Amino acid sequence: MKILVLNGPNLNLLGTREPEQYGHASLADVETLCAETALGLGYGVECFQSNHEGELIDKIHSFGKLVQAGQALGAVFNPGAFTHTSVALHDAIKGTGLPVVEVHISNVHAREAFRHHSYISPVALGVVVGLGIQGYALAIQGLVHKTS
Ligand code: DQA
Repeated sequence: MKILVLNGPNLNLLGTREPEQYGHASLADVETLCAETALGLGYGVECFQSNHEGELIDKIHSFGKLVQAGQALGAVFNPGAFTHTSVALHDAIKGTGLPVVEVHISNVHAREAFRHHSYISPVALGVVVGLGIQGYALAIQGLVHKTS
């Protein structure tokens, strides 16, 4: 059984992008943390990052099928800026029934007003916000706790 670790636009820049906001860990560090956390709970991970909305939607569709087939548990998803804009990602999660825990490294509610609304939260099992990259580990724990 595996868990999808899904990251959206600009998260490939982690480590060098606005470190005061997102810290110094790289996306590879995040993915290692997720793999270790999942392994400790008896799960594998598949990691995918894209800067393209359609590729994220396609991955949600394919992983949704795996969940339906009993071959995967769900996803932890940091949609980046698409959080605040994407009805299409909302619809993909809703349409596939993919269990998703939404993650944000920064506390989006303490930032600009345009980051306060999420199209993903209404279709997420839960949301982890503002706890740095440790939020991904907590999201994996939450996903496992809520789905198994
Ligand atoms: C983010 C918050 C978003 O507002 C922003 O566009 C990102 C990263 C976070 O992890 O804190 O790209 O999702």
